[in-house]
Parts: sequence; structure tokens; C-alpha cells
Amino acid sequence: MPPVRRLLVHDLAQVATPKAGPAPLRGADLRDVHVIEDAFVLCEGPRIEAVGPMYELPALTGDVETIDGRGLAAIPGLVDCHTHACFAGDRVHEFSLRAGGASYEELHAAGGGILSTVRATRAAGEEALVEATTIHRAWMRAHGTTTFEAKSGYGLDRETELAQLRAVRAAGGVPTWLGAHAVPPEQADADAYVDFLLAEVLPDAAAIAEAADVFLERGTFDAAQARRYLGACREAGLVLRLHGDQFTESGAIPLAIELGARSVDHLEATGDAGVRALAASSVTGVLLPTSALFLGRPLPPARALVDAGAAIALATDFNPGSAFCESLPLACTLACTQMRLAPEEALSACTVNAAHVLGRDASVGRLQPGYGADLVLLDVADWRHLAYHLAGDIVHTVVERGEIALARRA
Ligand code: NIG
Ligand code: FE
Repeated sequence: MPPVRRLLVHDLAQVATPKAGPAPLRGADLRDVHVIEDAFVLCEGPRIEAVGPMYELPALTGDVETIDGRGLAAIPGLVDCHTHACFAGDRVHEFSLRAGGASYEELHAAGGGILSTVRATRAAGEEALVEATTIHRAWMRAHGTTTFEAKSGYGLDRETELAQLRAVRAAGGVPTWLGAHAVPPEQADADAYVDFLLAEVLPDAAAIAEAADVFLERGTFDAAQARRYLGACREAGLVLRLHGDQFTESGAIPLAIELGARSVDHLEATGDAGVRALAASSVTGVLLPTSALFLGRPLPPARALVDAGAAIALATDFNPGSAFCESLPLACTLACTQMRLAPEEALSACTVNAAHVLGRDASVGRLQPGYGADLVLLDVADWRHLAYHLAGDIVHTVVERGEIALARRA
């Protein structure tokens, strides 16, 4: 057997990792980031073998690749648990219209918005979708993301929905089936479209995707339609997620709790009762501050959610319409400056808690032995610059599964 490859990052100024133990983290545990000064991370093949202070580094024999970590801080590879990274075209024209006063919902109602990306995505073909998603993955990696989820929802027909899911897998992402994203023009109405999705697409989508998602909102799918869609998806073995409370409270949190969903995402419009209900449940609230920023919407009640004991995650919502932004560090900055989270809470939310949303918290999102060797070296001695440096260029090196995936500094 060939010897297992080892990678040692030594003399790091800091290693920062969320609290060990069960996930998702809630309450005070979200702040409990473990920081080791003058530290090392040792990777063996795709896994972390050891992490600790330099004085505990064992003598190593055989071939070991090394990275000099002096002046750098290591954090777990970031986990983006909510993106729409598989799409063709762009919506820069709409961006100009919105800057001139048109609203996102008005553009959608006029046949633009999501449906304009649907037209481009249907026309692209699977190969181009793999290529586009791979490019978007590289953009995410440059900001420290090593695990990403991406949804379908720009096909809205059988062939393109399945092509999107395969493209996400081919580009290394975790695929979520968002068949119920919008009603395409060839379908009579939302009920007829849900019938079509469940009869014609679900059986094959369930074989590729890990989760199902629905856009529960006025003008798209109501709670009854979302219940029918998600209920069938659960029967088919998919984890359930919802886009909910983005513009209006339309029953997403009660439905997520009723169905045992893994997450309910957005929550910009969530009020006090929703905060309390979510906090008392096992559903994780996924907060997307870059989306709220991009649309000029109020931010979700993150502080209230954490204080009430809710499990939260942070993600980008990267997509061409409501959040053309692939940067989790920027999401962390907004979490701290606009939503009053501590940097520690933000880090836990886009590492181990985001991994929990993707069913991977036992293997991703922490720097501890046995976890996947996904790490980001920041070009600063204090890891909190992750959130502090607004739109900063601070990623020095990205390691994925024990291999150097990106080296941005000599
Ligand atoms: O999460 N709101 C629904 N879906 C996406 C936006 C998709 C788009 O505008 O293309 C979101 O914001
Ligand atoms: Fe989204």
C-alpha cells in the first residue's frame, strides 16, 4: 500500500474551531470558539489527524508536506449551506432596473426575475451548467468555502431540473431539489405544477438530490401547496428545507416544524411568535444577510433568535437575482455589524451549524481529529478578521480534503 500523504501546517498564530460535541450549537455554545495560539494542524490523507499547540507536535517520520503558518490563523473550511450556484446568464439588467426603483417582486410578477434565469438555464445545456457551477465554486473557494450546497429551481421542467442536480454533483456540491421555486409559464397554476413535479420529476430527483426545498411566499407557493410538495418529498427520503418569511410571514415556520424540516431559510419578515416557535424546535434558521443587503430588505432577527435559543446557520444565498454574492466572510461581517452577532457566533453559524443543515456535522465544520481536512488559512494573526475586515482579501490558502486547493500568497 502506498504511504498515506500527510500535510502539516505549523507555527500558526492561531487555530480557531467551534465547540466540540453535538450540533447544531445553540445559545452560549455558539460563542464557545476554541482558540489555540502557536499551533499546528496535521492532516493525514483527507482527514485531520491532530490539532494542538506546537509543543505537542509529535516527531514525524516519512514524507510530510509542510506549510509555514507563521502570522496566519486557521479556521475550518467554510460551509455555504444555501446557494443557487447552478445557473446560466445573469440579471445585471434587472439590477439596473432595481437601482431605478423597481422591486424584486414586481420584476418577478412581470415574468422577469427567477423566470428570466429559467429561460437562460433551460437554453444552456448540462455541460454549460457544470462549467458555470464549477466557476462559481472557484469563486466561493476564493472566499474560503470548502463545502457548498446548490439548488435546482431554474429548470422548472423535468429535463433541466435533473440536469441542474447532476451539474451540482459534478461540480462537487450538495444538491437540493428546488422544483417548487416558481410556476413556469407552460403550467396552468401552482397546483397543476405541483402535480407535475410530484408525478414526473420527484422519482428521479430523489435519486440525485439530498434535500427538497420550496419557495413559500405570496405569489409563488402557499402553505397547502408547500405541504403537499414537501410531504411527498419526505416520503421519497429527502431532507426538507423551506424558503420562508422572506417578504411575508406565510406559515413557513409552523409548516417546517410540523414536517420536521431540517431548516427554514431567509426569515427577514419573521416576528416574535415565529422567533419563539423556531427556538423551541429542532429546525435550524438559515440567515442570508447578503440577500437582505442586496435587495435592501430588513435583516432577519438573528440576535433575538440566538437569545431565544434557536439553532442558526449563516449562508450567502448566492444567486443571480437576490444575492449575487459568494462571500461567507461578508455574510459574517453583516452578521456582526447589522445583526449584532459576535464573531464567534458567526463562525459557528457558517461552519458546524451549516454542516448540520447539510447532514455533515460529524465530518465537516470543525478542526478536530477525524474531521475532513478542510481548512482556511487567513492572512492575519487573529481569526476574527474573518468578520472584521469588511470585504477584505484575507484568504491566504485553502486546503480541501488534505490537498492545497488554493494558494493565493507565496
Ligand atoms: O433565495 N427567493 C427565492 N429564491 C432565491 C432568489 C432566486 C433568484 O432571484 O434567482 C432567494 O432569494
Ligand atoms: Fe435562496
